[in-house]
Amino acid sequence: PLSETGPIAAAAAEAACGVGAFNVIQLEHAQAIVAGAEAAGAPVILQISENAVRYHGALGPIGAATLAVARAARVPVAVHLDHATSVELVGQAVELGFTSVMFDASALSYGENVRATAEVVRRCHAAGVWVEAELGEVGGKDGVHAPGVRTDPAEAAAFVAAAGVDALAVAVGTSHAMPTRDAALDFELIGRLRRAVPVPLVLHGSSGVADGDLTAAVEAGMTKVNIATHLNRVFSTAVRRALADDARLVDTRRYLGPARAAVAAEVTRLLGVLKAT
Ligand code: G3H
Ligand code: ZN
Repeated sequence: PLSETGPIAAAAAEAACGVGAFNVIQLEHAQAIVAGAEAAGAPVILQISENAVRYHGALGPIGAATLAVARAARVPVAVHLDHATSVELVGQAVELGFTSVMFDASALSYGENVRATAEVVRRCHAAGVWVEAELGEVGGKDGVHAPGVRTDPAEAAAFVAAAGVDALAVAVGTSHAMPTRDAALDFELIGRLRRAVPVPLVLHGSSGVADGDLTAAVEAGMTKVNIATHLNRVFSTAVRRALADDARLVDTRRYLGPARAAVAAEVTRLLGVLKAT
């Protein structure tokens, strides 16, 4: 069923387990991620980024479809707006019934980030919606990789207190949309952030992290683990294979179906890597 994001994240943080947060672009992604989570018997977060909304031209249709997939699921499924910079889009997600949002003002100065985020928190909490923010910009959103950025633990603690957020995305060595899984995570910093920050920590750009380091990151204190690019790689590889196997193939179900199945299997595997339960 569609389930609140807060309790899913809180239970995982309490148990030092991870929660997989996977990005939805097409309906097939939502179906695959939920099928993978059902097979693992673990809760999961479906997230739609502002970039994906831009691709669709609106949040409504893909948001409603994703919520419908979540409601029909046999495991708890939260539906989250990812990397929103538009306050108006946050309002639309709340209106549609999303259980959480990430408001990303990480490109702003510390003071402006606090001010803008606190206002979003006020509005979202009034509607019972959980809010994630980001401090210390995780690179790669604009194609420019900056894995060297780091979030300061004392500043992170002050930010969470001042903005009132429910979860915090931190920069600990990843960068978005990495083509290879070889990011060097700063595990010592993850531990210090975990001890300094009272809310669940979020790892962005997790496609660049190898399996063993994903497990170690969760054990060190990361809770919500965001994965997008890696599943797109799995999806697209399966599409390529199906089309290459039959040059006359035109029925879209014949190549999207195998891609959906491949993503589901990879989600099940990743939820094991993340110790999600
Ligand atoms: O917010 C989404 C994630 O941070 C995904 O990043 O595409 O590098 O896995 P990724
Ligand atoms: Zn991200």
